[in-house]
Amino acid sequence: MAKAASLLRVLLPSMLLLATAAAEGARPNKSSSLGGFVWATGKDEGDLVAMVESPEESLPVEDDITGGFSSLEGMLQWAIGHSDPEKLKEKAKDVQRLSGDELKKRQLEIKELMEKLKVSSDAELMKIAIADLNNFSITLEGRQRALNELLFLVEPIDNANDLDKLGGLVVVIRELDNSEADIRTTSAWILGKACQNNALVQNQILTYGGLEKLIKMVGSSSKEEAVKALYAVSALIHNNEIGQKMFYAEEGNIMLQDIMSNSSTDIRLLKKAAILVADLADNQQHYADNSKLHFLGDRFFLKAVVDLLLTPDLDLQEKALLAVRSLLQLTSTDASDLRDYCSLDQVLESMREGLDKANVEEDLKDYSDEIESLRKEVLVLFHNKLSNISSVPT
Ligand SMILES: *[C@@H]1O[C@H](CO)[C@@H](O)[C@H](O)[C@H]1NC(C)=O
Ligand SMILES: *[C@@H]1O[C@H](CO)[C@@H](O)[C@H](O)[C@H]1NC(C)=O
Repeated sequence: MAKAASLLRVLLPSMLLLATAAAEGARPNKSSSLGGFVWATGKDEGDLVAMVESPEESLPVEDDITGGFSSLEGMLQWAIGHSDPEKLKEKAKDVQRLSGDELKKRQLEIKELMEKLKVSSDAELMKIAIADLNNFSITLEGRQRALNELLFLVEPIDNANDLDKLGGLVVVIRELDNSEADIRTTSAWILGKACQNNALVQNQILTYGGLEKLIKMVGSSSKEEAVKALYAVSALIHNNEIGQKMFYAEEGNIMLQDIMSNSSTDIRLLKKAAILVADLADNQQHYADNSKLHFLGDRFFLKAVVDLLLTPDLDLQEKALLAVRSLLQLTSTDASDLRDYCSLDQVLESMREGLDKANVEEDLKDYSDEIESLRKEVLVLFHNKLSNISSVPT
């Protein structure tokens, strides 16, 4: 941490100055170097440290950096605030004497160094957060802060890929069992973010048994916890055949059906459930038969999805329509179940009436028109599927 911050103090003035020089139009003069900094290409980390540790190359700022930066940007802000304006001005004059070629070369070097700085500082920040989570005498606030930092840090894919190597996944999954709902919630959020569109991290979390815990958490009485847990479950099994099989083995289908059928479920959770159903149905097309999720064709499950169409919330209606449309593409979906058990015809008809009413409200017109055309599309697909059954000789 301290090393990263020191590096930044060394680099920042040069970056600012190069920017200044570029803005003011540099006057070429080959006789000067950049404020006493000695730049060389192909520096390794040892060189960087040596540079930082050489006193005349450091800027005159307090050396008691004890951390607390949650990001590279935070460090930049800090370094800007701690730079000496007089020194900056002086060095700006030096930069103006550089030739265009020299300037370009230095810009490239700085860019290279910044890349290295970024990598090393993020990994270091993650290590610190993970060490905090492993420190059992840390306060609740400290634990929450460490998790918030990880939440931010796992966003870039390279950091997410490093999380397990640094021992981070195991500790975050462990925090899913914390007695504090906020801690569990942030932990679920981190896992979802880290594995989003990332098969490597998905499989790591699945191997550590994270899915089972997250599925249980969706039933939490804390709305926020349930929402973040379902977000993480969805990210974990998206496009992941093994994850989807495990989802079924852990009775994820029952969890989904329960929340969709429960009239007191939070609307955000219902939307996430509808999106997940559509996603699972879409994925099914690509999987071999032994990986098929047959519960998607179960009529109790279908009814829970179809009933979502009756909600007054347009956004949820749209998401539920997309789910029904995806389910209609599956051969395992029996159209006569949709007709007889789920009353899909009546449901779609009462939906049309509701949309007619929404259409009267000017600000909802475009949106309700959009949903209406999706509704019609579902209706046509449904009737095509029905006529396919009746045309098959029995
Ligand atoms: C653990 O946390 C406590 C309380 O914040 C702190 O005093 C201690 O130094 C930490 N231990 C380690 C090994 O970081
Ligand atoms: C329905 O959801 C509420 C709120 O999440 C929960 O308290 C209740 O136990 C659920 N009911 C059933 C039957 O699952």
